[in-house]
Amino acid sequence: MLTAYDAPTGRLIDDVGIDIALVGDSVGNTRLGYDSTLPVTVEEIASHTAAVSRGVEDALIVADMPFLSFGADTADAVENCGRMLKEAGADAVKLECGPHTVELTRTLTDLGIPVQAHLGLTPQHENETGLYRQGTDVDSARRIIDLGQEHEAAGAFSIVLEHVPANLAGAVTEALSIPTIGIGAGPECDGQVLVIDEVIGLSERTAPFSERFGNVREEMKDAMKAYDDAVKSGEFPADDHSHYEAGLDDMY
Ligand code: KIV
Repeated sequence: MLTAYDAPTGRLIDDVGIDIALVGDSVGNTRLGYDSTLPVTVEEIASHTAAVSRGVEDALIVADMPFLSFGADTADAVENCGRMLKEAGADAVKLECGPHTVELTRTLTDLGIPVQAHLGLTPQHENETGLYRQGTDVDSARRIIDLGQEHEAAGAFSIVLEHVPANLAGAVTEALSIPTIGIGAGPECDGQVLVIDEVIGLSERTAPFSERFGNVREEMKDAMKAYDDAVKSGEFPADDHSHYEAGLDDMY
């Protein structure tokens, strides 16, 4: 699984053969200039999901439900999650989970909205937990395993495990029959997910558990600088880029 926020990236996800395109609320930090994911709105996720779905034909598209779009009122949550499938072209939603999302997972699943549960570090709780590794002692690790089992029993089709010890992720993976997808959770998960901007080297910063596999930021800078230089020096546009129409030479 890899995050995607637009149609061209969706197309590339298919070209590469990645199974799942996650329209993460990380779009808030990566593309919308917010300091956290908290300001991201349902409209923004719906708009980015619709863009990704216009690019994707094969991959499963998961829309990441933003802060406070679920968890308070069930009818509101159903409406917000339902919009992602009805209007935006998602195949499923992801919820940052806790005890409050077990029944909601059951309700959404019963209604035909597949749910991917997200446990461990859930950045929408950053004002309570910070952005630190979770499940580092026996009690909190046990709570994550229990929540994984409760969400599986409630119908979740997979579990994202973020920033937890690798041996805990291994234990969750063993305890569940649905797939686990790790980010900062070691190699023992069934799958992995990263943020596209970090993978391609577009973002300025990279999480300590992430990896840059390219340097798109430098490539973009080089191309932008070359364009700016070419315009300012008069090299661009050249004859190849221009068309002169016969009879229009002495217009003024
Ligand atoms: O928003 C996001 O990109 C995510 C992934 C980090 C799992 O939730």
